[in-house]
Amino acid sequence: MKKSHMEIEIKQQPQIISKIIDAYFFDNEKVIIDAPDDVDKIIMVASGSSYHCARCAAEIFGDVSNIEARAIYSSEFLLKKVIPNHALYIFISQSGETTDTLSALQKVKQLGMQTLCVTNVENSTMWKAADYRVNCLAGEEQSVASTKALTAQMLCLYLLAIKYAADKKSDISKQIKNLQVLPDVIQRSINLEGKIQTLAKFLYKYRDIVIAADGVSYALAKEACLKIKETSYINVMSHILGEFMHGHLAVLNNKKTILVYISSDELSYSAIKNLEKIKADYNPPICVIGTSTDRLNTSYNIDCNLDSDNYILKIFSNLVIIQILALKIAEKLGRDVDKPKGLRKIVTEN
Ligand code: BG6
Repeated sequence: MKKSHMEIEIKQQPQIISKIIDAYFFDNEKVIIDAPDDVDKIIMVASGSSYHCARCAAEIFGDVSNIEARAIYSSEFLLKKVIPNHALYIFISQSGETTDTLSALQKVKQLGMQTLCVTNVENSTMWKAADYRVNCLAGEEQSVASTKALTAQMLCLYLLAIKYAADKKSDISKQIKNLQVLPDVIQRSINLEGKIQTLAKFLYKYRDIVIAADGVSYALAKEACLKIKETSYINVMSHILGEFMHGHLAVLNNKKTILVYISSDELSYSAIKNLEKIKADYNPPICVIGTSTDRLNTSYNIDCNLDSDNYILKIFSNLVIIQILALKIAEKLGRDVDKPKGLRKIVTEN
């Protein structure tokens, strides 16, 4: 069967990751990237997959660089009456042309605040409008469902976090080790394709799929939902597991519902207790992407068993697993993954 652009682009990721690291990380110790110094607050504005990347990056900026960071949907940002100042605004857009994100950038520029864009298209409208600009170097992305550009955006934001940590003289040795193994982690996740295909064959029959996660992995749950919606048209729901337990879990009374849990860190005590309660009260099939535990007796567990317990590497690994899972489900359903009905690669007004 002819490979889709989506599959080709997913499998390009190891070398794209290496290329980005070579472009922005030097002498195995310093990040050189177009960005202002002395930043103590970051607000990221994006849509779709780019927003999910921003939401992950917000946690990483806080943890790695000790910088207060948050992510806001572009369309929501445009409705805000109060725009926080004294912040670096980062606009993330694969195309650099998404209308909502561009409008948000113009709004911030009019207020005289610093703007940085992370985009895959040099000389895009966003590229020309931002004060600082980072090319995520993923190469042209043809599939509507963003994969390699999203992973590339995530790495660029991680590199930015490392830059700010190093500027503060923080210890970045753990981050340097992560960068050294990241291309291999991506490749090892791609090599799980056979196991992921088996999970896809199990999942594709379901029409009610709950994808849950906690903490930084919730952004991955949202990304998994978007990828599956865009390519398979299945109406999957994402939930923060801790909140799902407050009433939402009643949907599990519908016996055709399946629960997927995404974990980029050791499973927390509360996550295990919640999943055990779900098993006891509703007994749906439970699949875990990432770190699991035998206590859950899951139907499937897809995990790239990394040597490091570092959650950041697991985020990248789970992202690739999610991309391949969405691809395989769509292929099982016979969908044209590169040209989903009614979707365009760029959402503009015209
Ligand atoms: C949507 C796409 O139209 O735009 C998503 O379906 C994409 O896949 C979103 O993530 C944002 O696009 P961009 O180019 O601003 O990253």
